[in-house]
Amino acid sequence: MKIKRLFSIILMSVLIICVPTGCAANSNSGSAVQNSSTSSTAQDKDQTATDSSSKSTTSEQNKNDKVSGGKTLVVYFSATGSTKAVAEKISDATNGDIFELVPQTPYTSEDLDWNNTESRVTKEHEDESKRDVALNSTSVDNWDSYDTVFIGYPIWWGIAAWPVNSFVKENDFSGKTVIPFCTSASSDIGDSGSLLKEMVGTGNWQSGQRFASNASDDDVKAWLGQLGY
Ligand SMILES: Cc1cc2nc3c(=O)[nH]c(=O)nc-3n(C[C@H](O)[C@H](O)[C@H](O)COP(=O)(O)O)c2cc1C
Repeated sequence: MKIKRLFSIILMSVLIICVPTGCAANSNSGSAVQNSSTSSTAQDKDQTATDSSSKSTTSEQNKNDKVSGGKTLVVYFSATGSTKAVAEKISDATNGDIFELVPQTPYTSEDLDWNNTESRVTKEHEDESKRDVALNSTSVDNWDSYDTVFIGYPIWWGIAAWPVNSFVKENDFSGKTVIPFCTSASSDIGDSGSLLKEMVGTGNWQSGQRFASNASDDDVKAWLGQLGY
């Protein structure tokens, strides 16, 4: 009898504690918090997407900081789109900002015909004084805030396509890690990065990477993985 009363007291105590607070509800509260945290992460992502369209906001800077331990910029020139595609993959994977080098007089397909001795590229190739190609802009907003600069170009006659020259000559790379990358039909990156480094004289230039003109996401990600991204 005494045991029965004792059992009733214990049962009553359990009911008093559990019913108002909800023991079962408590056991779910971890995932509810996680979900609300997930949904706030989704909101953060939306916010980030809005930020990246407006570029250079504080949120954008924080986003870059998280990934690389510093802000990343991807600068590129591309005449026919191959280097552009790789630059965009790098920008996506590193959450880096992107800056396209656009010649004031863009290259037409006739200009790019290296088989024609009279074409623009052939003349520029044969006469180095013609390789100072004016760009729409060589000035990047908040340049000083970037720690890592990827710089991309197509290979032309074994070297970096010269529209990138004006950009590297007109900027100070002191304190920055500079990582060249290129696309080509078959040539390797060769001395193209070293030659750019000589033009600049500042920055911690890395050896860089060559990609095929049709480089895949995986090609780019594998390389970035080696770099610690
Ligand atoms: C003027 C000119 C010269 C080129 N010279 C080379 C070369 O020396 N070696 C090579 O492998 N590819 C060469 N190519 C091919 C380009 O490097 C290749 O198609 C590159 O991916 C183009 O990049 P883009 O689409 O970003 O301009 C040359 C292309 C052009 C237009």
